[in-house]
Amino acid sequence: MKVGFADKAPQKTGTIIVGVHEGRKLTAAAQMLDAATDGAVSRSVKTAGFNGKKHQTLQILAPAGVKADRIVLMGLGKGLSALDAAKTGGALCALLNAVHEKDAVIHLDEGAEDLGDAAAEMASGVQLRSYRFDRYRTREPADKKPSLKKVTIVTPATSDARKRHKSLAAVAEGVHLTRDLVSEPPNVLYPESFAAEAKKLAELGVSVEVLGEKQMRKLGMGALLGVGQGSLRESQMVVMQWQGARASAAPVAFVGKGVTFDTGGISLKPGPGMEEMKWDMGGAGVVAGLMKALAGRKAKVNAVGVLGLVENMPDGAAQRPGDIVTTMSGQTIEIHNTDAEGRLVLADALWYTQDRFKPRYMIDLATLTGAMIIALGNEYAGFFSNDDDLSAALSAAGEATGEKVWRLPLAEAYDNLIKTDGADMKNIGGRGAGSITAAQLLQRFVNDTPWAHLDIAGVTWSSKDSPLAAKGATAYGVRLLDRLVADNYEG
Ligand code: BES
Ligand code: MN
Ligand code: ZN
Repeated sequence: MKVGFADKAPQKTGTIIVGVHEGRKLTAAAQMLDAATDGAVSRSVKTAGFNGKKHQTLQILAPAGVKADRIVLMGLGKGLSALDAAKTGGALCALLNAVHEKDAVIHLDEGAEDLGDAAAEMASGVQLRSYRFDRYRTREPADKKPSLKKVTIVTPATSDARKRHKSLAAVAEGVHLTRDLVSEPPNVLYPESFAAEAKKLAELGVSVEVLGEKQMRKLGMGALLGVGQGSLRESQMVVMQWQGARASAAPVAFVGKGVTFDTGGISLKPGPGMEEMKWDMGGAGVVAGLMKALAGRKAKVNAVGVLGLVENMPDGAAQRPGDIVTTMSGQTIEIHNTDAEGRLVLADALWYTQDRFKPRYMIDLATLTGAMIIALGNEYAGFFSNDDDLSAALSAAGEATGEKVWRLPLAEAYDNLIKTDGADMKNIGGRGAGSITAAQLLQRFVNDTPWAHLDIAGVTWSSKDSPLAAKGATAYGVRLLDRLVADNYEG
């Protein structure tokens, strides 16, 4: 699909979209259409009780006096914020596909403080919502496929819009990569094939290294390797580097849990719903998409992305409850449940990252605990951090992007829950505080580096549509962390 900007409306189009302010006040573009249609716009607004509230829309079909097949009114509320504009673009994209439209023009002539920025965000919203994973639908009738081919946003601020949109488009590309990775089935996406996808980021100037099991064994990554030892697939660690700042500047680092399938291992998960565990690599998917976004928009920052890629399978060679593994840090972990595997992967990935890169800060993302879904549902991601400034910056980026995050506590008192006699710690706590005990374990592997852990178990996959993502893989975290970097760590 193509999204572009113009300062004048093209002659003929399928759908024309114009804005209405809250309280039914027509924008100049809407007034022009109203005049051309002999008052159809204002009459429709009254008849439908359309108030112009933001995210409200109203369709007027086959209007006389214009060449378009359809007019859509979009509510502008009391003015759209950047995020509102993106969400409006997303909602319009869904509406246009639902009515089988191919070609639409959106007039954004009023209704935002910065029209160029709003136009760019709206275009990005259209692109984000247009994503669809349909690679394996071989028999879908053409009329069931998305129809929308072209969206033109008419705005007086075209050059601003184009400039601003360039980086938003790069971020959308990152989001789409993440959604592809998360959506691929686990027979197609496994540690080595995931690593091969990551290597493609070299085209954008990202340097990509892949460590295999032999190299990880040499480094002493007993925790990560233990998780993968029951799988026929070789475990991998991917290290991506983007150099957008001077070479000597310490990087920011992102670390992703990439369990390409989580059966639970010997502590096998129940059958129903197990197919969902293909998206247990969501954290790694976000890190890959984020690196693509940063490189694609040439972010002025040095960034490192580390992916811990394993498959957690039950097998004769699989790790057992009772096993004790030695991590790269030297600390030992007694396995009490092989289904608490994400923290084992991250223990080595985090230690490796801080040890090798001495980053300014380190953020990990993981679909780590079912308990996080119990705590926060599917609206907020939960996070833990040893740094108040980083936490505040994350929360602000969450509000700005709509990828909201909520901080939960870390505290020494919880450490008792992962005590064991046989080793330095065990890999599960008790029934309570399941997300916290996981985070407490991770904290032992960050070695005083400013750090945040995002538990994205509840937000990585959605069973329902939202303005910026059709149901399925959300890529929650890419826009959040891109924004965190853009607002705090560039230049
Ligand atoms: N990948 C799961 C967590 C998860 C569950 C993510 C459901 C998304 C949806 C993780 O590896 C896991 O199995 N965690 C266990 C930990 C428990 C054994 C302490 C859990 O949450 O049940
Ligand atoms: Mn598990
Ligand atoms: Zn898992």
